Amino acid sequence: MDDLRRHYEQHPYPRYPLLASLRRKDVKHLSLADLWQRHNGRELPQELRRILVAGCGSFAPYPFSLANPACQITALDLSQASIKRARLHCLLHLRFNVDFILGDLLDPSVATGPFGLIDAYGVLHHLPDPLAGLMALKQRLTHNGLLRVMLYSHGARRGTEAARRALRRLGITDVASLEALYDRLPKGSRLARRLAETPEGNTDHGLADAFLHPQVTTYRVAQLAGLVAKSGLELLTFCHPNALSDPCQEWQRLAGLEENGTLDDNYVLLLRNATPAPQRSPAARNR
Ligand SMILES: C[S@@+](CC[C@H](N)C(=O)[O-])C[C@H]1O[C@@H](n2cnc3c(N)ncnc32)[C@H](O)[C@@H]1O
Repeated sequence: MDDLRRHYEQHPYPRYPLLASLRRKDVKHLSLADLWQRHNGRELPQELRRILVAGCGSFAPYPFSLANPACQITALDLSQASIKRARLHCLLHLRFNVDFILGDLLDPSVATGPFGLIDAYGVLHHLPDPLAGLMALKQRLTHNGLLRVMLYSHGARRGTEAARRALRRLGITDVASLEALYDRLPKGSRLARRLAETPEGNTDHGLADAFLHPQVTTYRVAQLAGLVAKSGLELLTFCHPNALSDPCQEWQRLAGLEENGTLDDNYVLLLRNATPAPQRSPAARNR
């Protein structure tokens, strides 16, 4: 975990300009009240207007705050530098309903639930044990609470992972050495092309995120299905680009793309904690 923290202290992610602003209609899909109504078929109770942005990075608290002005938002991250930047972004855009917490999502004593919605976008696949992370978040969800996760697909990351492994073997661990290597590489080589074609590859944080990350897990479709099954969470829908609304059909579509070698997107899933809250005995209730 120390390597991971060090990485994000050095390279907070993402790195949008502090004045980058969004309109409320751009972030409507992040509205807890709307998601709750759509998936639970009733109005969101007042006491569940609580959102956890787990592994919030340097930007996500701002769109969540904008989309959910009536909710209390907790933004949790391991990296002080990321929290500092995310807090500043919120302040500059007059978003005040966010509490920032420096801590590890695996620690049950921080950012305690219950939450109506938890977001962990691009976070769990950087943990040594992603299932443990998923279960730690599930513990913080209320009954019928919602969890959005983005996880890397094996297909989308194939080329990047090959380059990341090659760079690790070469002992390249910082952006300056990576850029120096790029200057020496034959321009047609596979590694040079991968470095040049990477989205955000023209920025330090983009290069670091793609190629210098200390910990990455990617998922084949069957592995993703296994992870969801082990978690005991209910899959409501996929929300990545081009996803079919019926999850069964989407599993099939993803499996077909993977088989053809054309699965080029990462997975975004909306899950629900269908486990009822433990019943308290009448004696305990009266205490
Ligand atoms: C790729 S960034 C994604 C940021 C944000 N979720 C987004 O979508 O823009 C991953 C973030 O997760 C944080 N993180 C990773 N492991 C964590 C953990 N165990 N507890 C809290 N934060 C963690 C990192 O510090 C980093 O800021």
